[in-house]
Amino acid sequence: MHVNRFDTAAAEWDQKQRRVDLAAAIAAGIAALPLHQEMEALEYGCGTGLVGLALAPRLGSLIAADSSPGMLATLSDKIAAQGITNVRPLLLDLHSKDCPQQFDLIFSAMTLHHIDEVELILGKIVEGLKPGGILALADLDSEDGSFHRDNPTGVMHHGFDRAQLTAALRRLGLKSITVDTVHTIMKTDGQGEKQPYPVFLLTAVKDRT
Ligand SMILES: C[S@@+](CC[C@H](N)C(=O)[O-])C[C@H]1O[C@@H](n2cnc3c(N)ncnc32)[C@H](O)[C@@H]1O
Repeated sequence: MHVNRFDTAAAEWDQKQRRVDLAAAIAAGIAALPLHQEMEALEYGCGTGLVGLALAPRLGSLIAADSSPGMLATLSDKIAAQGITNVRPLLLDLHSKDCPQQFDLIFSAMTLHHIDEVELILGKIVEGLKPGGILALADLDSEDGSFHRDNPTGVMHHGFDRAQLTAALRRLGLKSITVDTVHTIMKTDGQGEKQPYPVFLLTAVKDRT
């Protein structure tokens, strides 16, 4: 079986406070959306569930999808340890498969920059939304490549331009698109200086027609 960088990192993923703080900020941003207990939700690129498990109590059900078996194994351990009943881990890569059903909410955090064919995957995500469904995407703003300086494997994009991402989602038929800074990661750059890396949260709605 192919083992990727996320399989290797999974067991210790939650030990970096920077990741925990970022996930908490993203979850708080998504929690401000009109969530409800009947919602069927999908998280794409769930990792160990730092974002999804924080939101699960506000949702009916959550399919937590990722292409890394290692990440999903760590998530499964957390689900079992915490007695969570409404979150189901799913091995999924939308490059080769479609969403398993349509959802009221799809969210994704810090995953898009690892995706090769972003427009293809965004198209599949939009197809996976019910009419009136909500999309929430969090990722890095365009950066100079220094964010992943220590571990560039599997990094397909150095963040995203907000206007270009918004335009791509408009082309896919999404409406009511908003983009806000949800968190700023402070990380040491190549010169040993702390550099700010803003993270945006984009939200959008699929037309009911
Ligand atoms: C930077 S981690 C973010 C994890 C989690 N969302 C968080 O905020 O803690 C990116 C995640 O995307 C997953 N990923 C990368 N490429 C993917 C793909 N093509 N399909 C599904 N998941 C993918 C990785 O396995 C990893 O768990």
